[in-house]
Amino acid sequence: MPQESTPRRERKRTVQQMVVVGVIATAIGITIGLLIPWFPPADSTQADKIDTLWDVLIIATVPIFVLVTVIVLFAVIEFRMRPGEENLDGPPIHGNTKLEVIWTAVPAVLIVGLVTYAYIVLTDIEKAPAAGNERVVTVTGQQFAWSFAYNEGGKKFTTAQLYLPAGESVKFDVKSKDVIHDFWVPDFRMKIDAVPGITTHYRVTPKNPQAIGDHAIVCAELCGLGHAFMRQTAHVLSKADFNTWLAKMTAPKPAPGGGAAGAAINAKQLFTAGDADTGATACGSCHTLADAGTTGTTGPDLDKTLKGKDAAFIKESILDPNKQITQGYQPGIMPPNFGDTLSPEQVDALVKYLSEVTNK
Ligand code: CUA
Repeated sequence: MPQESTPRRERKRTVQQMVVVGVIATAIGITIGLLIPWFPPADSTQADKIDTLWDVLIIATVPIFVLVTVIVLFAVIEFRMRPGEENLDGPPIHGNTKLEVIWTAVPAVLIVGLVTYAYIVLTDIEKAPAAGNERVVTVTGQQFAWSFAYNEGGKKFTTAQLYLPAGESVKFDVKSKDVIHDFWVPDFRMKIDAVPGITTHYRVTPKNPQAIGDHAIVCAELCGLGHAFMRQTAHVLSKADFNTWLAKMTAPKPAPGGGAAGAAINAKQLFTAGDADTGATACGSCHTLADAGTTGTTGPDLDKTLKGKDAAFIKESILDPNKQITQGYQPGIMPPNFGDTLSPEQVDALVKYLSEVTNK
């Protein structure tokens, strides 16, 4: 038996109910959206503006999501096919100019508004500091490690971890040696692709003193098997601590070859503890070596794999670890940037040490 269409009064009541449901759902949605801790601490001056932009987007988009969802659900329930209506055709539709103008104009105004606001924020966070006096750090990505090149008053050096003073603007020149990576410090919010053949940039000012401490550096572009391991640390230091570090990094190096003038490099300590100044990882954290008392298993056991190998092989394995891979291990796990983050003297000292202790 065909049913009659819903009486007009009842339809009006349903629309009222829909409006009430929509308003409540919007209020709940916005509250949840603003309460969810989406981001880690905001530790750069740029981060606050980005977080505010995010909140504005939540407030603008939740009502639209709710509006669409409520109308869809309303239509599904209200206009569903009832028993006996299987063969009925709906009423013919001739379009509705007024409705079409509204549903084109309203989203257009919203989008232009949000794009304009986002553009203003972007210009603001990319702006150079007024003082003009800012540090440039060249960030180079490669499968699968970052390295950080400084040029401080003409003195150049490269580190394995990032060191920054709090409260000072830093501009990153971002490059890649192989494929596309993406340089991201979530606590700073800014993020950019490292693209082979071009240099990309962004700048941040770590907050002083809130940002003092360690921050994760993440590669945010799938770049190969070791992508997930392409994680390092940004150390934000107080200005005084940073200057102390800088003085150590730019101090004249002891004369190569040791002797009376230059303090000999303690290769065993370098192997077990890494280089605290540049942040170069300790070999022993991944490799087993009886003489150094290390038991790492991420990389090959050096007592076994280096036995009978000459100094040239050991040097190549440090500088170009993917050239020859020990059976049972994967390429791309060992950082390929020790040639940049260790001095030639440090590499030579390590080679000499490893050569001696594994060929006893
Ligand atoms: Cu480099 Cu992902």
